[in-house]
Amino acid sequence: MVEGLSMDGPRLIQERKRSHMCGDLRAADIGQSVVVMGWVQTYRDLGGAVFIDLRDRTGLVQVVFDESSTKEAHGIADRVRGEWVIGVAGKVRSRGSNVNPKLPTGEIEIEADYIEVFNRAETPPFEISDDVDTSEDKRLAYRYLDLRRPSIQRTLLMRSRLNQVARRSLVEQGFTELETPFMVKYTPGGARNFVVPSRLNPGSFYALAESPQIYKQLFMIAGFDRYFQITKCFRDEDLRQDRQPEFTQIDLELSFVDMRDIHQVVERMVRSLFKETIDVTLPDPFPVMTYDEAMRRYGSDKPDLRFGLEHVVLTDLVKQHDGGGVPLFKQALAQGGIIKAMVVPGEQPLSRTEVDKLEVEAKGVGAAGLGRAKIAEDGTWTQSPFSKVIEDGLRVAINEATGARPQDTILFQFGPPKLVHTVMSHLRLHLGRKLGLIPEGAWKVLWVTDFPLFEYDEKSRTYVAAHHPFTSPRHEDVDRLTSDPGACRALAYDLVLNGNEIAGGSIRIHDPDVQAKVFDALSISAEEQQAKFGFLLEALSFGAPPHGGIAAGMDRLAMLIAGGQSLRDVIPFPKTQKGADPMSGAPTPIQEQQLADLFIRSIAPPSKESKDGTKEATKEATKEAT
Ligand code: AMO
Repeated sequence: MVEGLSMDGPRLIQERKRSHMCGDLRAADIGQSVVVMGWVQTYRDLGGAVFIDLRDRTGLVQVVFDESSTKEAHGIADRVRGEWVIGVAGKVRSRGSNVNPKLPTGEIEIEADYIEVFNRAETPPFEISDDVDTSEDKRLAYRYLDLRRPSIQRTLLMRSRLNQVARRSLVEQGFTELETPFMVKYTPGGARNFVVPSRLNPGSFYALAESPQIYKQLFMIAGFDRYFQITKCFRDEDLRQDRQPEFTQIDLELSFVDMRDIHQVVERMVRSLFKETIDVTLPDPFPVMTYDEAMRRYGSDKPDLRFGLEHVVLTDLVKQHDGGGVPLFKQALAQGGIIKAMVVPGEQPLSRTEVDKLEVEAKGVGAAGLGRAKIAEDGTWTQSPFSKVIEDGLRVAINEATGARPQDTILFQFGPPKLVHTVMSHLRLHLGRKLGLIPEGAWKVLWVTDFPLFEYDEKSRTYVAAHHPFTSPRHEDVDRLTSDPGACRALAYDLVLNGNEIAGGSIRIHDPDVQAKVFDALSISAEEQQAKFGFLLEALSFGAPPHGGIAAGMDRLAMLIAGGQSLRDVIPFPKTQKGADPMSGAPTPIQEQQLADLFIRSIAPPSKESKDGTKEATKEATKEAT
């Protein structure tokens, strides 16, 4: 039993109550009697006086226990250790000339006359501090301690604010907050689902909802007009820094609107989110770019507009010059390929070795090689595989089209459009970072619109929905649904922030004839339609209003606003790259009997873990955590 640990309940809590939060005390409070509570950050015994830095979610305050004025409290304080939970009563006094300018409470301290120890603590596996140098594995295994660190606390408080601002903005804009089920019907296609066995229906499974998509459309059919929900979504995807298996969407659906109406709602909300958390003013309205333009200029449907290095498409130009003497260009054109260039300005000239390294980068994302040319004073090309063969006419035309000047380097890619865009987009981002072209603190937001309605899947040799099968084609493209599906553009849009997709949505099809044509283009038979989406199709036949919607990725927004590198920085209890939780050890095998109750037999090879299995699983999983 520790002296000061109350037997009959903490008196400070029951009788006196907390008067202030630690981090809120200021010089204006000097002379006040206060009661504060929290965790011991540091303690120092300076002989005759014990100094404790006490921490709660608002910050630190220094508490002094003077032996001469308070013998009993001093005696207890002397035995207190890091992360113990205590309550303190005392008076605020000035620190005089010992001001600590690094602390917001640095002008004052509490001269304590009473202390209560609420609880002791084991020595934590890492220091609770922002400059802690501990592996992420360990921090995730003790996430509740990691969450005590001031920077994560600030991030999660900011995230709470994001929720409140989003809710307020949407409620002010006439939205109703409604809930949808997590356990839903399994439908193949789209993201891979997590499945949940139904004990009451042996052999049958629910899927965990990958989004509330179908249900929010049903709300429109039911007449709710404007729905929103801040909700978890579940996707069994390969995980990356910006993907978690369970993540949060701010999900909206609206009736009797067009695309611009939806954009305006989202813009109002996103502007408020930025203004009220980090005081950043985003433009009004947000700029808009079509998918085609984004691909042409940046090779990406989520271009980062904080820096230049735009691409130039040279396909037509090279065609006009019939290949201009460059066999590789001619060959690419003959195979239906495209030719793209990007100019790296001569202010930061690229050396031969640097361009060779860029080629390795390019090969890493599938390129066969990297065409290059350095521009000499007279406009001729050097350090280039093309310099000997290219005709002057094409060379001059390319210099002019790309705006390349002496000392600049032109980088080229040619071949299948998808690959060329991917490689050039990757190189652009890589160079943007490497050359330090991305300004700190810049925010560039952008709507990307007019996505293709379908993508051609080489494997199945069919078209698949680029967004989902209920996305409306542009009205002027409806006639092409049968004649030229690949050329149909969708009333679909993404919101892009600094090169990250932070929201995506579409206008939905509400006309059964158009829906039928889309299903035909997707080669989805009537039986398949019924099996997959029967209930939605039936609902759409009972008077569906024109409607559309969007969902924003809350975790991604929070990550960007908080300046985090990974979604794990902004999710209280995230999963590792292997979908594991190093703290609890989830996922774990379950008992044979539990499986039997669900009429399931596991064919997984016996795992290393069993009794103390969580530990093994944890170790395995956390190895992947970075
Ligand atoms: P979509 O699939 O584009 O659209 O998702 C919307 C937004 O959610 C975020 N997001 C993710 N965030 C973290 N981890 C993930 N695994 C993850 N997957 C997606 C992204 C994305 O822009 N029902 C449609 C929306 C609609 O049409 O209304 C949907 O879910 O920021």
